[in-house]
Amino acid sequence: MTPASSFYITTPIYYVTGKPHIGNAYTTLAADIAARFQRLCGQDVFFLTGTDEHGQKVLEAAKKQGLPPQALADEVVQNFHALNRLLQVTPNDFIRTTEERHRQVVLAFLQKVYDRGDIYLGEYEDWYCLPCEAFYTQTQLIHGKCPSCQRDVQKLKEESYFFRMSNYEKALLEHLHRHAEFVQPETRRNEVIRFVESGLKDLSISRTTIDWGIPVPNFEKTQKKHVLYVWFDALINYLSGIDYLKNPSQFELYWNTATHLVGKDILRFHAVYWPCMLLSVGLPLPKRIFAHGWITHGSQKMSKSRENALDPFALVEKYGLDPVRYYFFKEIPFGLDGEFSDTTFIHRTNSDLANDLGNLLSRSTQMVLNYCEGKTPAIPQNFSEEDEALKHLAHHVITETQRHMDQLAFSKALSEIWKLIRTCNQYLENKAPWKLAKEHKKEEVDRTLYICLETLRIVALLTSAFMPTSSQKIWNALGISKNIEIQRLESESPWGQLPQGLTVQKGEALFPRIATP
Ligand code: MSP
Repeated sequence: MTPASSFYITTPIYYVTGKPHIGNAYTTLAADIAARFQRLCGQDVFFLTGTDEHGQKVLEAAKKQGLPPQALADEVVQNFHALNRLLQVTPNDFIRTTEERHRQVVLAFLQKVYDRGDIYLGEYEDWYCLPCEAFYTQTQLIHGKCPSCQRDVQKLKEESYFFRMSNYEKALLEHLHRHAEFVQPETRRNEVIRFVESGLKDLSISRTTIDWGIPVPNFEKTQKKHVLYVWFDALINYLSGIDYLKNPSQFELYWNTATHLVGKDILRFHAVYWPCMLLSVGLPLPKRIFAHGWITHGSQKMSKSRENALDPFALVEKYGLDPVRYYFFKEIPFGLDGEFSDTTFIHRTNSDLANDLGNLLSRSTQMVLNYCEGKTPAIPQNFSEEDEALKHLAHHVITETQRHMDQLAFSKALSEIWKLIRTCNQYLENKAPWKLAKEHKKEEVDRTLYICLETLRIVALLTSAFMPTSSQKIWNALGISKNIEIQRLESESPWGQLPQGLTVQKGEALFPRIATP
């Protein structure tokens, strides 16, 4: 089957300063869920993630540990690979900014910007926030501190190459006004518009006081050695990761459909600097930049330096992977901040997963064992009004889930799917096959149970992007031996595809209840 079209999704590339925490895992999981769902929809997906390995922040972290920066990067990147394996994250590629393939694209890009007349040599004198790797003017500071993370800033005065970002103010504003989907959610788009309207200054894009970065060609024959500003370097990963220079057909296929997922802390780099850079070299702008909110813990943004970071390895060890993959996307509407707490985690898992979904599966399969000799019943030919209503709901939920997933509205998509699960539980309750069996209404027992199993088959398909292992377990319990990960919604979602006579298994509880402390 030929794919409907392509879908390119990226995460920010993470600094290799320390172990990844749940905040980093959150963006990567969101991208993975979107990528898996679009694959299910038949799209040709490219999902890119990676690490940001240059710059002062990484250099200082390496110094602290007494390591060369490359050695630190080589060590820390392993944690990100291990995390992706643990979380069952399925990227098509993982880009590191210290790779040669990335350096080549950066240099080619930089040359284009220079040839366009958008790079000049000047002197930089302003404030620098190290944790954010960002420059600020005096007036942007809030009480003398970084306006983004409220930490101390340092005065920098050095020779620097500048990028004529101001040249692109008008074109960027026009793009922002014309394309409502370019920056999401809407509130973030408005913030970006206000920022651009307040005027764009040229951007300092090189540093002479550090040497950990990609060397800038000596464009203006200066005595000083310049390395590229870490953000200018890092943003280009979205091009090098799909082989911009060497594979133009692949690049074109994916670039036009790019969705960048970012935390709201780094929206300005993506929605202002990056588009201006692309406009300078004449490349199309990404289709969508989606800024999500922060995971807070103890009511503060989770971060490495605040020591409120939750270790994803420990969380998965404690609760299992699929409840973790489910929780963050059901509990927190994508785009808003959300507090992590064990209490809400346990509540969600017990009520949505163990009670609603887990029970539907265990009751349905148990009754098939009791009343249908453990085999999937015949595909019903006639339906009562109540049966029809459930069938109709399943159809509606499939369409709605797709619509919400296209908009990255994960929580709404899950609510839709849970409508179907809860209605099916209610249906089972109303039909009471245990009573029908006593009354020897075999045909009705079979029909009712077939409808529940078929609903579960569809539910598993729809939840597979969120909970790949549990969804496969549902299919296996229904006797379906196909690999759910490689199915297509278009062919699998029409009602009535569960064959008759499969061997149903009860198995262990899909989601064991977590004891409340
Ligand atoms: N290296 C830059 C990004 C360059 S992209 C061209 C960077 N790296 S980072 O390691 O600091 O990762 C930042 C990203 O991690 C955020 O944008 C967000 O996606 C994620 N998060 C970090 N802490 C987070 C929370 N507490 N909550 C949600 N997401 C968080 O910035």
